[in-house]
Amino acid sequence: MAFTVAIDGPAAAGKGTVSRAVAAHFGFAHLDTGLLYRAVAFRSLAGEDPIAAAQALVAEDLEAEGLRTQAIADEASKVASIPDVRSALVDFQRAFARRSGGAVLDGRDIGTVICPDAEAKLFVTASAEVRARRRWKELVERGIEAVFDEVLAEVKARDARDSSRMTAPLLAAEDAVRIDTSEFSIEEAVAAAVAAIDARL
Ligand code: C5P
Repeated sequence: MAFTVAIDGPAAAGKGTVSRAVAAHFGFAHLDTGLLYRAVAFRSLAGEDPIAAAQALVAEDLEAEGLRTQAIADEASKVASIPDVRSALVDFQRAFARRSGGAVLDGRDIGTVICPDAEAKLFVTASAEVRARRRWKELVERGIEAVFDEVLAEVKARDARDSSRMTAPLLAAEDAVRIDTSEFSIEEAVAAAVAAIDARL
């Protein structure tokens, strides 16, 4: 049985945490599609042409060390605005989505572009302030010095870039269930997501 759960939303809304928990709950495979763009960004920063890098991408590239840094995130959102980079990554994502046993894909355009026929679609969001606060806390806990206002500015800049690009902008699918995690604990956000998916099973 193939069952696809599409989870979209902006950076630091809790999408990754919710996606992992939902995949574990239902026993589905999980693909963090941001890693695809980060892996392309990694190669692009090393001097490769981003389109060629996207076309040559293999699953092992997603395991590379150092994909979670801010510099990679910035470059990822730049290479993600190149239409040929996006189209080179479509087949990989669709094949993953239709694997038997169920799949959760999280990203920005899963419910709108990659898997418009997904059995369940969620749009996980939170206010920019709440997302910046979470990101800032995460950095401080990892011992990285960070200024809240700078983190907030970065969150807003990435939102603007992701929402305004011509190809596959960050957008909730019309039929997506919207989950605003601003006032939610992780447990509450996961419970809301599980309930929304249960309703489609
Ligand atoms: O989710 P994550 O922060 O890892 O994504 C990094 C960047 O990759 C995002 O800012 C976005 O520009 C891009 N991205 C995308 N489409 C996706 C997933 C990520 O454009 N499906």
